[in-house]
Formats: sequence, structure tokens, C-alpha cells
Amino acid sequence: MERKKVTILDLQAKKRKGERITMLTAYDYPTALLVDRAGIDMILVGDSLAMVVLGHENTLAVTMDEMIHHCKAVSRGAKTPFLVGDMPFMSYQVSKTQAVANAGRFLKEGGMDAVKLEGGQEMAETIKAIVDAGIPVMGHIGLTPQSISKLGGYRVQGRDIKAALKLIDDALALEEAGCFSIILEAIPDRVAKLITERVSIPTIGIGAGPHCDGQVLVIHDMVGLFDRFTPKFVKKYTNINVEILKALQGFKEDVEKGIFPGPEHSYSISDEAYEALLAELGKEE
Ligand code: KIV
Repeated sequence: MERKKVTILDLQAKKRKGERITMLTAYDYPTALLVDRAGIDMILVGDSLAMVVLGHENTLAVTMDEMIHHCKAVSRGAKTPFLVGDMPFMSYQVSKTQAVANAGRFLKEGGMDAVKLEGGQEMAETIKAIVDAGIPVMGHIGLTPQSISKLGGYRVQGRDIKAALKLIDDALALEEAGCFSIILEAIPDRVAKLITERVSIPTIGIGAGPHCDGQVLVIHDMVGLFDRFTPKFVKKYTNINVEILKALQGFKEDVEKGIFPGPEHSYSISDEAYEALLAELGKEE
């Protein structure tokens, strides 16, 4: 049976009913197909693309055009999940006009249903402008990787009273600005619980404990496809790198030993046609 496309109303209903929301990242067509087939509610085409797919040191280098390219592939594969495109560094910070125009590209060209951007109160006016243009926005507070230089590294946020209160104020400001949901990244579980109880929009946690309305993970982390480092909050559901490496080594060995390709992977010509071919070649000599 064909499943119904997930909408913002479905996500809000899940929060109301206390049903947990699932979200994973995807960056290409085959992965998007799999995430859809698994029945995951939401896909984030995250700017984590920069690190786990494009091999950059951090998320800052990825461009609008690169994000759109991958969004297009994901939207071709995933028909049921709610699709969120991650606005890359400097695509929304310079001006509200530029932010609205870039957000629009995610829906118009990339086939996304919404955009995500990082930041708290300071981003409220920009978020409002994007929402006013009819584009749903997901907020992202706590550890915001685009501010890695300012934060001084990938570290847990909101551990002291002042920082925790700021996170709560940020979450309320994002809700007020019109966000339909907020990602909470790398914050203490009890702070995430306080935020989740105070906002009426769904909170989606990554390293924010079990009390959020939903959970998101970077797919390359949870299947073991990216092993440069693994944050504490990642649960590895499989280690696909090991399986892929085994397959690649098997191919190398088979080719080197002349085992692959075997007859089952080769095309044949009839004896008659082959004899005629040899005769033709003999005539030429
Ligand atoms: O880019 C990304 O994958 C993200 C998640 C870590 C939430 O922003």
C-alpha cells in the first residue's frame, strides 16, 4: 500500500499524541529510497554533507549549489518523508533578502518541503521573513556546527545556568518567529526536556537525550560509513564499512586470480557465428 506523504500537521499531531518522530540525514537517491522504505518521518539533507560525503574538515565549505544538487537527488528518491534542506554557512546570515531567496531555491529547485538554519534569538527576524514567504523553517540550537570557530570546538552546550536559560529563551524565540520544529544538538538531557515541555512545536534531538519529541542521526554515522570520528551520542546500528571493504577485497582477489568474470557474467556467441568469424579473419590474413 502506498504511504501518505508526511506533513507538518502529522508532525505536530505526533507531538500532541506523545508519538516519537524519526529523522535521518540522506544525501543521494539510493539512500533516500532506503530511508523512505524504512518508514522514517523526516529526511534532512544536512550540511554534514560537507564532511561525510565531500570530505571537508567541517561543514563551512559546502555551497548552495552543492546542497541543491544533493537535495534534487534525495527528492527524486524519497516520496513519503517530510524533506528538510539545510541552509549552508553564509547563505542566510548576510541579509534577510538573500536568506529568503536561498531558502526559496531549496523548495523550487531542490524539491524540499522546508529549510533548516542554525541560531537562536539573533536569527528570529530572518526566520520570520522566510516563513512569511511561505517557506517552513526548522530551527537548530545548542551545538551549531557552523559556529564551530566561535564555540571553540564540538562541545556540549547549555551546561551552566546562564547557557541553559539562553537555550530556553532561544527555543521560545524560534517558536515565536514561526519555526515548525527545532533541532536540539549536544545539550544535557534535562535541559532538552525543559525546552520540549515549554514549546508547542516538536523538538528533534541529536545528543540531547530521550525526552525530545523525536531523534535525528547522521546516516553515515549510524551505519558506520563515516569513521573519521564518532560522537558519543551516535548509536552504530551496523558497520557497513566492514562489509563494503570485504566486497572490494573480494573483487580484487577474484579479478587477480581470473575467477571473475565467470561464464554466468559473460555473453556468448553461437559456435556457428564464431566459426564464421574465424573464417572471415583467416581470409584477411
Ligand atoms: O547537517 C546535519 O546533518 C545536521 C544534523 C547534525 C542535525 O545539522
